[in-house]
Amino acid sequence: MANPRKIIIDTDPGQDDAAAIMLAFGSPEELEVLGITTVAGNVPLSYTSRNARIICELCGKTDTKVFAGADKPIARPLVTAEHVHGKTGLDGPELDEPTMPLQAGHAVDFIIETLRNEPEGTVTLCTLGPLTNIGLAFQKAPDIIGRVRELVMMGGGFSEGGNITPAAEFNIYVDPEAADIVLRSGVPVVMMPLDVTHKLLTLKSRVKRMAEIGTRPAIAMVEMLEFFERFDIEKYGSDGGPLHDPTVVAYLLKPELFKGRVCNVEIEVKSELTVGMTVVDWWHVTDRKRNATVMRDVDADGFFDLLIDRFARI
Ligand code: RIB
Ligand code: CA
Repeated sequence: MANPRKIIIDTDPGQDDAAAIMLAFGSPEELEVLGITTVAGNVPLSYTSRNARIICELCGKTDTKVFAGADKPIARPLVTAEHVHGKTGLDGPELDEPTMPLQAGHAVDFIIETLRNEPEGTVTLCTLGPLTNIGLAFQKAPDIIGRVRELVMMGGGFSEGGNITPAAEFNIYVDPEAADIVLRSGVPVVMMPLDVTHKLLTLKSRVKRMAEIGTRPAIAMVEMLEFFERFDIEKYGSDGGPLHDPTVVAYLLKPELFKGRVCNVEIEVKSELTVGMTVVDWWHVTDRKRNATVMRDVDADGFFDLLIDRFARI
C-alpha cells in the first residue's frame, strides 16, 4: 500500500499485547507505528515500559519511539494481573533487559502532539490496556478528539460477562472512568470484547505452526503464549487461552475477519458490584447514542493464518 495507516499503540504488555505489537511490526506495508505508549495495567508501569522496549528489540525495531504514560488509573488504585502474566508481565521466555531508551516526555503529551501535528483524521489509536492515557489526553486536550481517525480497543464484554469480576473485563475494570471518558467523547470506537477474543484460542495446532516459523521472535512468542494460556486453561478448561490484544491490529489489516454492529455502549462507574461493566445496547432498546462498533464474531482460522503469516516476516 502506498500510504501505510498511521497508528499509536497504547499498551500494558502483557504477552497478548506482545503478540499485537509483533503483528503490527510484521505488517510495515499496511501500518506505520508512530509510537508506542505504555500504561499501568497487567503489571506496573515500570514493567510495561520495560516490556514494550523488549518487544521492540526482539523484533529488531529499536528505532520505535516508546513513551511511558500513566502509572495508575484516573480515579482508582491500580489493579494488576500478575496471576495471568507473571511478575514481569512477559513471563515465559528468557529475555534480556532492554537497552533502547524510553523517549523523554509523557505518553499523554506524545498522543496530544502527534494528533495535533499529523493531518486530521489520519492517526488511529490502538488501545490494548486500560484507557488511562487516552482518557487523560482527551481531558487535557479535547481538541484532539475530532482529529482521531478511529480508536480500536480491546476491552469489555457482552454475553461473555467479565474476566476479572463476573461483570467486568480487565482493561475496563482497571480504569472505568477513563473508559467512560473515551466512550462519551464521540471518537469513532471499534470495540473488541471478550465475546470475540474468547473465540481465539491458542490451540496446540496453532502454537505449533507458530513454533515452526523457527525465528527468535516466533519462538519467544510461543514461550510467552505457553505461559500466558495456562491461567485460562485452568480457569475455563479450554484448549489454549484467548488471544485478546492482536484482534485490534488484525482488524486494521483484515476487518472482514470480524462481524459486529454499531450500538450504544456505556460503562458502569458507580456500582461496586458491577463497576467496569460495558453495558452494550445490542438490540437498540434505548435511544442512547450509538457510539461504538461492537464486534461479536470472528473468523478464528483466518485470524491465526494472518498472525502466523506476519510473525514469519519479522
Ligand atoms: O482482559 C484482557 C485484557 O486485559 C488484555 O488486554 C490483556 O493484555 C489485559 O490487558
Ligand atoms: Ca493488554
